[in-house]
Parts: sequence; C-alpha cells; structure tokens
Amino acid sequence: MTSLPDRKRLHVITWGCQMNVYDSGRMTDVLAPLGYAPAETPNGADMVILNTCHIRDKAAEKVFSELGRLRRLKEASGGHMILAVAGCVAQAEGAEILARAPYVDIVLGPQTYHRLPEMVARASRAGGAVIETEFPAEDKFDHLPDSTTPQGVTAFLTIQEGCDKFCSFCVVPYTRGAEQSRPAAAILREARHLVAQGAREITLLGQNVNAWHGEAPDGSTWGLGRLLRELANIPNLPRLRYATSHPRDMDDDLIAAHRDIPALMPFLHLPVQSGSDRILEAMNRKHTGTDYRRIVDRLRAARPDLALSSDFIVGHPGETEADFEATMALVRDVNFAQAYSFKYSSRPGTPAAGAPRQVAEPEKDRRLQALQALLREQQASFAQSCVGLTMPVLFTGPGRHPGQVVGRSPFLHPVHLQGHADLIGNEVLVRIVAAHPNSLAGTLVQERLIA
Ligand code: 5AD
Ligand code: SF4
Repeated sequence: MTSLPDRKRLHVITWGCQMNVYDSGRMTDVLAPLGYAPAETPNGADMVILNTCHIRDKAAEKVFSELGRLRRLKEASGGHMILAVAGCVAQAEGAEILARAPYVDIVLGPQTYHRLPEMVARASRAGGAVIETEFPAEDKFDHLPDSTTPQGVTAFLTIQEGCDKFCSFCVVPYTRGAEQSRPAAAILREARHLVAQGAREITLLGQNVNAWHGEAPDGSTWGLGRLLRELANIPNLPRLRYATSHPRDMDDDLIAAHRDIPALMPFLHLPVQSGSDRILEAMNRKHTGTDYRRIVDRLRAARPDLALSSDFIVGHPGETEADFEATMALVRDVNFAQAYSFKYSSRPGTPAAGAPRQVAEPEKDRRLQALQALLREQQASFAQSCVGLTMPVLFTGPGRHPGQVVGRSPFLHPVHLQGHADLIGNEVLVRIVAAHPNSLAGTLVQERLIA
C-alpha cells in the first residue's frame, strides 16, 4: 500500500522576468509529489522559495531585506520552515547569500531546479545548507514532470534558455549560461497540455527566444518560424506570442510567419537598447539603428497592424548627448506602442562595468525622464488610436468591479467591460470605447468567436 505524503504549504516569491514566473510554476510542479501545495502567504508555510532577478541594481539588497523578514517567520516556526533562494541572484551570489544569511537552507541556480526534491531531502536531514549553482550536464527539462499547476487562459512556455550574445551590460550569459533550445516535440507536447488545462494564448519564452533552433521530430533542425507554424495547428489555441527577441535573429522565415499565421498576435517586443551606432557597437549588439529600422519596415510590410515594444538603456558608458539624441530620433521614427526603459546599471563581471566614461547619475536621470516622456506620449496615442476599433479580446478573469470581466487585446492591453463570467476563456469581438493610461474599456460586439 502506498501512503500519500503529508500535505505541506509552499510559498513562492517571484521577481524579474516572465522566465522567472514560468520557473516558479515549474518549481511548484516539481515539489507537488512531495506533498507541497501552493500557499498565498509565507505565514505558516513549510517552505518559502525566493525566485530572484539580477538584471539591474539593488537586486541582491531586495533579497537580503526579504530574507530578514522571513528569518523571523522561520524562527517562529521553530526552525521548521525551509528557506530556499533560487534564480539569478542565487546563481551569481550563492556563497555570499549563505555567508550573510546562514539560516537559508537551499541556494539553487536556474539550471538545477529539477533537483529540488533531492535538495529538500538533504536540507531536511540538516547538517548545513545545500548549494547547487553549477550548470549540470543533464537538461533540467528532461527531468521535470509535465506541468501540473494550471496557468490559466494565458500561459508561458519556456522553449529556449541562456544567451551567447554577451551584450556589454548584461549578466544573463553568466547567470543563465549558454544558449539552449528545447526539442520541438517536447514543446508541442507541453503546449497541447497547456491547452487541455484551459490555455488559449501561449507566450513562448526565452532570453533570446528567436534564436531558438530546436531538434525537429524528423531529426532536422527547425527555427522559430517553423515551430510557430506547428503550434498554430493545435486546436483551440487561437493566440501565440513570443518574447524576448534580438534583432539579429529576426530571420526571413520568422518575418514571413508574421504574415502567414493569424494566431501570431500583432505585437512584438523587440529590444533595440539604443539608437546610436557608436553605443550599439560599444554594447556589442552587432546591429545598427538602420538595421533595426529595416527589420521593423519588413515586419510591418508582413503584418501591417503590428505594434512594437522595446527595451532601452540610457547612460551606457560613453553615451554622449548626441548618442542619446540618436535614441530619441529612433523612437520618433519607429513609434512604439509600449516600451521599457532603464538607466544603465553597472553589473559586476560584465565588460561595461569596468569601461571608462561612466555617465553621471543626474545625467542618466535627465535622459531617462526625457525618453520616458516621449515613450509615454507614443503609448497614449497608440491606445487612443484603438478607440472606435473592433478587435478580438481574450477574456482572462473577473474585473475589479462586480459584473466586470477583463481580457487582453491583441496588443496586450487589459480590456475591461461589463459582461458575464462565462466570457472567461473565450475570444470575443469587442468595440473599444475608451483608452485609459494602462487599459482600454470596451463593449461586446458579438457573443463568442471560438467554441
Ligand atoms: N542596466 C540597465 N538595464 C539593463 N538591462 C539589462 N541589463 C541592464 C543593465 N546592466 C535591460 C535591457 C534588457 C532588459 C531585460 O533589461 O534593456 O533588454
Ligand atoms: Fe542580455 Fe544581450 Fe543576451 Fe539579451 S541578448 S540576454 S541583453 S546579453
């Protein structure tokens, strides 16, 4: 006779990118057979995982302040609570975490979370902390169970990890390791599974997702365009997206996929970082501002309603006022529907950290404010241009007010309207009636698009 494991409570705190959100779900899955079920708060939890991000400043400090808070809960539990630090801060600063917070039980990098059950067993036997931050020879995806935690109507699916590009400012190649692509068959299986659990929109994830080149079922190698064509054949999956991409990997077939696949949503996050060729070279981006504009032109020719999003860094070492103006000019030329912009933040161990001509903080502030004002203007005018249009909205959950539901536009806007909860999980035509700073409001045009 087999006995079920005791029911235990697991609380996961996630910082950073969508890949971390996905990883937190998979860590939850891998611990489920041990009896761990998700808990909303750390109070009374048997285990707490901090899934951390190292991309910009103060990441480690945030982790240490959260650990200080959790230490008290751990003490209140008589030391019973297992405390784990996962993700990129763990990868980069594992030893330091254990030195400064010796009450942490487990430190694990992003490539080792399939080994969590074994680490928990080792940590429970006491005898010191468990640290696993090497890049193991085995692929964690081969050792993970199928996802058991339903993600809902919109789901993430990691298809690629790591990065070989080594942009001057970025820690990712060091924390996530070399580029790796999952085989197509495993991705297609996971996508079908997500759809069976209710997903109607899947976002394929990777640090460099359009560099994906995975093994095809016939042993050949596919690129992302081909993979998207296969995914588009899955029944009841009306929406596909991918993030985050590099301009250098935008190949002909992927651009053609934007023309050919209606399920591929007309919204693309394509980071450019800077509009100055001098700074792009210093960043080791290996593309120019003109290259980027050309790619955007080709994408818009393929899919005329395509809206663009991007990432920008201001104040990279060596950035002059003229360089910054070149970034502003590129933003004016391209016209973005949405964007993220950051002040350059020096990351230990990256080439730019030791570069001469670091830009003074007040100057970075000024440039960031000017850039964000322009981007905000473009974002607002894009949202305003949606008013009066009819577009499919995928309903994802109840709204903030009674009788309201919220959905997602093709362009990732939240869309609110008065409607029945039956709409959730369906893609329905909606007429947009108002644009707010971070959302749209609409009215139903048609009851249902998909069965
Ligand atoms: N400083 C500021 N922004 C950074 N990013 C990555 N590294 C840094 C850094 N050191 C930004 C880039 C990237 C996004 C995920 O974070 O714009 O595209
Ligand atoms: Fe970082 Fe550049 Fe790789 Fe993106 S492409 S993860 S910014 S090194």
